[in-house]
Amino acid sequence: MVIETGSVISNIKFASNVYLLTVELPQIASIAEPGQFCNIKVSGNSYPLLRRPFSIADVNGTHITFIFNIVGEGTEILSLKKMGNRINILGPLGQGFNYSLKIETAVVIAGGLGAAPFPFLIKVFNPKVEVLSFIGGRTENDLITFGMKNIFLSTDDGSAGLKGTVLDLVAQNQNLFHTNNTKIFACGPTPMLRAVKNYADKNKIDCELSVENVMACGFGVCQGCPIKKSNGDGYYLVCKDGPVFNALDIAI
Ligand SMILES: Cc1cc2nc3c(=O)[nH]c(=O)nc-3n(C[C@H](O)[C@H](O)[C@H](O)COP(=O)(O)OP(=O)(O)OC[C@H]3O[C@@H](n4cnc5c(N)ncnc54)[C@H](O)[C@@H]3O)c2cc1C
Ligand code: FES
Repeated sequence: MVIETGSVISNIKFASNVYLLTVELPQIASIAEPGQFCNIKVSGNSYPLLRRPFSIADVNGTHITFIFNIVGEGTEILSLKKMGNRINILGPLGQGFNYSLKIETAVVIAGGLGAAPFPFLIKVFNPKVEVLSFIGGRTENDLITFGMKNIFLSTDDGSAGLKGTVLDLVAQNQNLFHTNNTKIFACGPTPMLRAVKNYADKNKIDCELSVENVMACGFGVCQGCPIKKSNGDGYYLVCKDGPVFNALDIAI
């Protein structure tokens, strides 16, 4: 984990409320793993005080890209960053995905902004791994396909792809993957992750979930981001023990 101040390379609005922010961060980029995140100081002064967590969406040489949407003050400030602005960033943080050599089919399931960690993951898979990307959102405007491969879409309102949930979409295409050496990687809203966990349990598919929680420190000190262990034996910290967990390990 390092603290690095880097220059904004670009900050592009690429959908109605979604931005692609790329920052020059040589130290963090050299050690980042897919599924890890960074804690970003969105302004140069003391307000807002707390850093905001964002998944590492992609790494290209010394550049790190983040995908974010505006939900409040911090992300509003971030959306105004221009090329050459300097941003202070803490990272890489947390535990990333486990993308072992045994995987033959990677089933990537993303809900809305949950697509953020996957461009980097998809890039580092062995080229022999078949990637199937299932992307869901409330409407067409919520679908983020940046960096995805073999894309299947669903929307709640039917404005793009299958009308239904992303799990309906996965179930509809289940014939494309086999349980042997298939692994699910999912990120999105908690109800979606719960449904993915149940689906993986039922079909006995290895599954990792990238979980979100409101955070403060981002590295295990404030105890502010607990998630229940599935064995009832206390809590993990999402920032330090996650954000990626094996679905069997957490009660969600
Ligand atoms: C490990 C991790 C990775 C994340 N990666 C991304 C990412 O790649 N792209 C992205 O756009 N967002 C991501 N988020 C969520 C992002 O951190 C929040 O959207 C952001 O902190 C909101 O800051 P704000 O100041 O704009 O909003 P605030 O004013 O702080 O909050 C505005 C609203 O958003 C809600 N909110 C704040 N933080 C979170 C949170 N962590 N999860 C859910 N709701 C929240 C608040 O309850 C409130 O309703 C991630 C969160 C975590 C924990
Ligand atoms: S955010 Fe402080 S312990 Fe997780």
